Amino acid sequence: MSSSQTKRPLSSAKTGPISGDIRVPGDKSISHRSLMFGGLAIGTTKVTGLLEGEDVLATADAMRKLGATVTRDDDGTWHVTGVGVGALREPDSVIDMGNAGTGIRLMAGIVATHPITTFFTGDASLCKRPMGRVADPLAEFGAKFITRDRGRPPMAVIGTDEAKPITYTLPMASAQVKSAVMLAGLNTAGTTTVIEPKPSRDHTERMLRHFGVDVDVKVNDDGGRTVSLTGPAEMKAADIVVPTDPSSAAFPLVAALIHRDSNVTIRDVCLNPLRTGLITTLIEMGGDITITNEREEAGETIGDLVVTGKNRLQGIVVPADRAPSMIDEYPVLAVAAAYAEGETRMCDLEELRVKESDRLAAVAAGLEANGVIHRIEGDDLIVTGGAVPGGGMVETHLDHRIAMSFLVLGLGAEKPVAVDDANPIATSFPSFEKLMGDMGAKFALHS
Ligand code: S3P
Repeated sequence: MSSSQTKRPLSSAKTGPISGDIRVPGDKSISHRSLMFGGLAIGTTKVTGLLEGEDVLATADAMRKLGATVTRDDDGTWHVTGVGVGALREPDSVIDMGNAGTGIRLMAGIVATHPITTFFTGDASLCKRPMGRVADPLAEFGAKFITRDRGRPPMAVIGTDEAKPITYTLPMASAQVKSAVMLAGLNTAGTTTVIEPKPSRDHTERMLRHFGVDVDVKVNDDGGRTVSLTGPAEMKAADIVVPTDPSSAAFPLVAALIHRDSNVTIRDVCLNPLRTGLITTLIEMGGDITITNEREEAGETIGDLVVTGKNRLQGIVVPADRAPSMIDEYPVLAVAAAYAEGETRMCDLEELRVKESDRLAAVAAGLEANGVIHRIEGDDLIVTGGAVPGGGMVETHLDHRIAMSFLVLGLGAEKPVAVDDANPIATSFPSFEKLMGDMGAKFALHS
């Protein structure tokens, strides 16, 4: 979204049960990758179910500027004709990645080992986020980076045509950093290896294989993974059916759980085991969630979620090692915890501080404004559940997930909950208000 856009305050109010049979939009991680990988492959990739949110549309534009042909049919089917690994052309203008951390970091990996110079920028949120985490390993391939303010965008990437393969141990659990290194490895002669101490989402590994790249994944003795590929790699076009996004499904899921008579079915959700931490956690809390119709599509596990609100949630300790599999879901888990009985401790949330906003601070401020008892101890967030007073105004800081999470909080609160700006929701879930409204959620423009 554009940071200069006028803010759109929105509030949500206590509602009855949430009911419906819905499909949330396509998975954001898989959507970005389908356009990027389609643009690197030889041939035309057909993509159905693509998330048409602002983040992903920015990636479509980026791939066009680099030489790929990206088109959309009236029925929402996308076609990407790639140029082949190594054949991207230098963009003749600055690439604006909007709000998208995944977009800018993965694109940086792709262009780092092409002999071109690429300038990236983004919105006010993206321009506060650290790029050193990708620039450091990509510099080891031979690429050069120019950034502002100790590693923030705008960022210039001067790619290399003499890339040297690297072996890189991730200093933090990050699928974006892992993916950036692997994507740089595609156009690098020799074997590029990434060692990740804690497994993070593996859509890049799965989708590269789908495009014909030989990706080797070993599970290490400590539970981490060693991922390697040998370049230069050739990628062949391969059609993609994008499953729906578990990180978006999280909002109707939690909304349903806080109302006793709710009954919601959410279709075709990506159930990649490295994305299902929230479902595991909510079931441990006593949530009535059933997975049905489980199947495989384009290398990913997909299924339907059936959820009712019949069980009151109970507070639990959410272990630190689960964080990578639910990293985007903590804001809405904090909302679930606010309605649970007892205390929920969410451990080791350090990475939340460098998301679209400092999510730990933004969640704490939102809970505070709405009278929810909570505290932060080190990098742990502890929420004490009960009746939620509400009545507060929450600052979203250009963060879509903060906006949606607190709108869900308002659905069970004594007084309405307002967010200062609903515009960022369009980055990942443009149909959020309509879809939730159709199921019974009460939203109103807030003046
Ligand atoms: C993503 C990885 C995660 C996640 C983001 C999407 C991806 O970021 O928070 O929304 O598609 O690879 P990190 O790699 O920073 O954990």
